[in-house]
Amino acid sequence: MDKFIIEGPVRLEGTVSASGAKNAVLPLMAASLLTSGVSTISNVPGLRDVRTFMMLLDMLGAKCELVDDLLTIDTTRIHSIVAPYDHVKKMRASVYVLGPLLAFKGESLVSLPGGCAWGPRPVNLHIEGMKALGAEIDVTEGYIHATSRGKRLSGGSYRFEPSSVGATCNVMMSAVLADGVTELQNCAIEPEVTQLVEALIDAGAKIEGAGTTTLKIEGVESLNPINQRVIPDRIEAGTFLTAAAMTRGDVTVENCCPDHMTALLDILKAMGCDIEITEDSVRCSISGKPTPVEVVTHPYPGFATDMQAQVMAVASVADGTSHITETIYPDRFTHAAELCRLGAEIRIDGAIATIDGVDVLNGAPVMATDLRASAAMVLAGFTANGETSIERVYHIDRGYERIEEKLAALGGVIRRVNE
Ligand code: EPZ
Repeated sequence: MDKFIIEGPVRLEGTVSASGAKNAVLPLMAASLLTSGVSTISNVPGLRDVRTFMMLLDMLGAKCELVDDLLTIDTTRIHSIVAPYDHVKKMRASVYVLGPLLAFKGESLVSLPGGCAWGPRPVNLHIEGMKALGAEIDVTEGYIHATSRGKRLSGGSYRFEPSSVGATCNVMMSAVLADGVTELQNCAIEPEVTQLVEALIDAGAKIEGAGTTTLKIEGVESLNPINQRVIPDRIEAGTFLTAAAMTRGDVTVENCCPDHMTALLDILKAMGCDIEITEDSVRCSISGKPTPVEVVTHPYPGFATDMQAQVMAVASVADGTSHITETIYPDRFTHAAELCRLGAEIRIDGAIATIDGVDVLNGAPVMATDLRASAAMVLAGFTANGETSIERVYHIDRGYERIEEKLAALGGVIRRVNE
């Protein structure tokens, strides 16, 4: 398994370009199963999760081809409706094929996704939402078996509690081919969800309420293939901005969407960062120690849980005590113990982390535990004195395209070694 070797301390400075959003491209890939044809998706990031999803689609009978950032998916020869455990355990987002296969093929058999580093990842909202459309769903032997009993799904209504990115996407994809009108309430409104709504409308779906928490979907007989350009990754972009805050640097992220990062930019400003925004770029710089902050994660447009680990890393070298409350995944703090190995002073009490900023961090061997926690450890490595080695960097490769190249271009001393 690969690991990163990082030398610190270093000030990260310069310009980097955001790639397409992981959490937007995956549901778009799943949506290709809603039709028999060739879907085209551009600005696709070169990520491990994208390759994993391509393999899953190929297992179903699709033909995927990724040339540079252009992905084509030919779904004219789908011959399977099974997403096996060996595959789903690698990537929870595999569950996204449940809805489209059910809607287009009338049946799907998808392994229950496992948990993840920070705890259980339930799919009850996906299941209950599809049942509201007339699906018959059994969960046996670790698999979700969904069927429409040889008929089209029928329009229905369902309210997500809590709001869920994945369930909103999955149930919406079930509803677009249903016979009748569906109303979905308390939908997630993350930009990645809104892009899926827009992509489905472009493919011929009839959906009202894009960008709002209530979606009204009038089912149609068939859809055209998906044809969409993936929006910029707001979490990757945010990670590079927090890298500037952490290393007292000056980083500009281009080809991003500042409007998708408002909550993060407010926190960075509260930490004392200078933030300059244009239509498609954000510049973040700071000269002294960050100011401590109070952060509470919320569904979009609130502060993203996927940025929580990165901001905890910045808070670990702030000039005082910060608090982070995690309301989405209360156990999502595996990175705290790893940061403490570098000398951070962090106490966890349930869903609340208290971070007492320290003057210096010192390099040490640490473990990547999940995608965003791994990114936080990389930022900490650039700030710590001496060498930090990070094992199991496959977690990072899942969601960050060529991260060591992009960080090296900002002055980071980082190299990947195969163990
Ligand atoms: C998506 O996961 C993202 N993944 C996650 O990003 C992100 O952390 C999460 O949304 C929250 O923003 C992708 O888009 C591929 P949820 P998802 O359903 O859809 C509960 C990353 O780092 N819930 O919005 O699985 C759940 O436990 C990844 O890129 C149920 O109770 O998250 C959580 O408390 C990590 N029942 C809350 O809803 C369900 O059926 C929000 O989860 C589904 C979810």
